[in-house]
Amino acid sequence: MKAPMRVAVTGAAGQIAYSLLFRVASGDMLGKDQPVILQLLEITPALDALKGVVMELDDCAFPLVAGITMSDKPEEAFKDVDVALLVGARPRGPGMERKDLLEANAAIFSVQGKALNDVASRDVKVLVVGNPANTNALIAQRNAPDLNPANFTAMTRLDHNRALAQLAAKTDAHTTDVKQMIIWGNHSATQYPDISQATVKGQAASGLVARDWYETDFIPTVQQRGAAIIKARGASSAASAGSSAVDHVRDWVLGTPAGDWVSMAIPSDGSYGIEKGLIYSFPVTCKNGRYEIVQGLDIDDFSRERMSVTEQELREERDGVAHLLP
Ligand code: NAD
Ligand code: LMR
Repeated sequence: MKAPMRVAVTGAAGQIAYSLLFRVASGDMLGKDQPVILQLLEITPALDALKGVVMELDDCAFPLVAGITMSDKPEEAFKDVDVALLVGARPRGPGMERKDLLEANAAIFSVQGKALNDVASRDVKVLVVGNPANTNALIAQRNAPDLNPANFTAMTRLDHNRALAQLAAKTDAHTTDVKQMIIWGNHSATQYPDISQATVKGQAASGLVARDWYETDFIPTVQQRGAAIIKARGASSAASAGSSAVDHVRDWVLGTPAGDWVSMAIPSDGSYGIEKGLIYSFPVTCKNGRYEIVQGLDIDDFSRERMSVTEQELREERDGVAHLLP
């Protein structure tokens, strides 16, 4: 039996956590042979609700759960964690953009970055889900100077999966037939879902769909999918967000499938001319617990313009939280 891995989940009594925790506990994220200790963080008023969630986790009698802790103190919840899923933050409502949450949520991530710095495993892998995810990840990273900056990531896997679903539906294929999708940039309405490299059953996607559908239907549908769900459901996406968080961490830890890549928002190393340090979504492959940006892709003028727009938005978000970036 492997030694248990410690997984922190913040916002553990919230909507996303209510599906995410059960997937992590059942082994979908770290493997069916990997025991986990769940270290759950909530704000004090939500601890009672969290107790209810833990009662349900207990009642599932998951073979892989080696322990569960609850706390309202980040330095307790993050003690020695190998993976930190930073979900806890306010969600947006109808008519808001995700960056409207910056003020409400940014402070959470500076406190949690500091706590991770002080008590987490030195190799902790951090995934920020709480919005605006890219800039919150930047805040957490900059408040954790002793940890590897590359280990702070934000979630664009939901956008990636949404793009796979849209393209698969349009081409009458299954999502598993679609390879080499890319989400560039911010998890926001400026993100650029790019099919220029994508294939469907081995054929170039760009030859299978009309350019007009791509530009006026596909791109805005993926960019606005979060808002469409809020409108339809009256609450922001939850189970799909939890599922994408599982996908993100699973592929980061256990590796991406041969012949394909995934999208992760990671600290830019300057690849593709994107400003170094911004938490920007790139196509990546993962192996042995490390990700690598896919290099050498052709970027045409259409793509370059969209990649720059979303980069500029990330610069503006960063400049708006300068006071939280030591
Ligand atoms: P929710 O309101 O149902 O749950 C959030 C939980 O976080 C609440 O239980 C709250 O008490 C807790 N919380 C607040 N501050 C906290 C803190 N300082 N420490 C620990 N816990 C704290 O919201 P949700 O639907 O679960 O969404 C959570 C976040 O995820 C939102 O910001 C939402 O916009 C974002 N989100 C991101 C993506 C993505 O693709 N990146 C997708 C969906 C949702
Ligand atoms: C999503 O993409 O569904 C989430 O980021 C929630 C939102 O505010 O859109």
